[in-house]
Amino acid sequence: MTRVIRMKIARQFLIFLLCKPGMVATTHESPTFYRDVRPILQMRCQECHQPGQIAPMPFLTYKQTRPWAKAIREAVLIKKMPPWFAEPGFGPFTNDRSLSKQEIQTLVAWVESGAAEGHLAEGHPKAAPAPRWEGGWNIARPDSVVEMPIAFRLPAKGDVDYQYIVVPTGFTEDKWVQMAELRPGNPAVVHHAVVYIREPGSSWLPDAKPGIPYVPPGRTARERLLNGSTTNDILMVYAPGNIPEKWAAGLAKFIKAGSDLVFQMHYTPKGHVTSDQSRVGMVFARATPGRRVITLQLGNDRFVIPPGDPNHRVEAWGALPNDATLLSFFPHMHLRGKSFEYNIIEPDNRRRTLLRVQPYNFHWQLSYRLNQPLPLKAGTKIECVAYYDNSRNNPNNPDPEEAVRFGPQSWEEMMIGFFDVAIDAHLDKQAFFGRRP
Ligand code: HEC
Repeated sequence: MTRVIRMKIARQFLIFLLCKPGMVATTHESPTFYRDVRPILQMRCQECHQPGQIAPMPFLTYKQTRPWAKAIREAVLIKKMPPWFAEPGFGPFTNDRSLSKQEIQTLVAWVESGAAEGHLAEGHPKAAPAPRWEGGWNIARPDSVVEMPIAFRLPAKGDVDYQYIVVPTGFTEDKWVQMAELRPGNPAVVHHAVVYIREPGSSWLPDAKPGIPYVPPGRTARERLLNGSTTNDILMVYAPGNIPEKWAAGLAKFIKAGSDLVFQMHYTPKGHVTSDQSRVGMVFARATPGRRVITLQLGNDRFVIPPGDPNHRVEAWGALPNDATLLSFFPHMHLRGKSFEYNIIEPDNRRRTLLRVQPYNFHWQLSYRLNQPLPLKAGTKIECVAYYDNSRNNPNNPDPEEAVRFGPQSWEEMMIGFFDVAIDAHLDKQAFFGRRP
């Protein structure tokens, strides 16, 4: 008898548990679009999910969002969206766009309770971030725009060598750049772009004519890439999903009077002949900053990833030649990239990990910007460690039978850990670029 009662209670408890989601659906506590969901979309999604940005569908209005409710639930549960790949526990990062547990719960509960619209009046229209995309820029109105003078014509298919386009800035005085953004002319074909600063008198790319797309000499794509490499500073790196550069007050990139910008463009043909003409917008610092931001890199171009290897380790390290303050990271690998970490090696050889990007996702090349910049002493050893999956379990693997080496195309591999540091504005940058860290 007691057993039957216990079973009954247990059954009722079970029924209660099973009913719970349904009960949530019928209470007036169910999340609504205007009150609960729209603020999350504004903060975490509309950066990309609005016209003119990279996501294919906008999530500005209820009408636009409602048909995607089920997909939104799925995407936030498996953390496919929003794209952010730093393992928890590092940082914090100023550009961390990941959702809190609470935000995920709200979105999921909204979808599971029927994705109600609610009433516009429930929302807080004043709290909504203003559209940040005035005139097509995500930075403030640029003081200067430097554009490729002629469009580059892409073939319908095949690999396209990295193109270098030298564009004189025409600056007659030194400039300090507070914000920089690259707007691709044709986002569908711009795989990534690196914008270099070539100072007057530089011996880099002597044969390139201003404005004309140029490929450095070399028999193989690898040789052409290595012949195009440089220790010149980088203004910024563009990749889809990465946000523009906005350096904190007192920090800026330096462009000497008379410098050129060199666009290094990686194009991927999309099945028809088309063209691209990209441009960079810059906002200048209002006052001369105390510190200069430079972009350094640790890379390895001498690895071979054996066919089928599911976890191949490649590393690169160097020591800082001078005091510098670490600001941000930008790991770069291709389709076999699995994880990437930045470590500091303490004097007693202990490793301190500052960032681990895992799972690495080739389609989202992101920067990770520290909330609290980290001062480092001259001589500090920085190490980058990359892991590659060249097995058939890697769904992105172009060919698991291949031994993979360094090269510019996506079916080859790369291993570069970019990082930005701030240095004393008066320090000669050669102190860093002359000797790579
Ligand atoms: C950095 C840009 C970016 C941000 C931020 C972003 N998305 Fe996306 N989203 C995309 C792009 C690009 C696609 C289409 C390509 C893809 O699926 O990767 C996409 C696709 C999606 C899809 C379709 C997924 C599928 O499987 O087809 C959903 C759903 C989605 N996003 C929801 C969201 C939600 C919800 C947020 C905010 C919490 C968000 N996204 C934030 C860029 C972004």
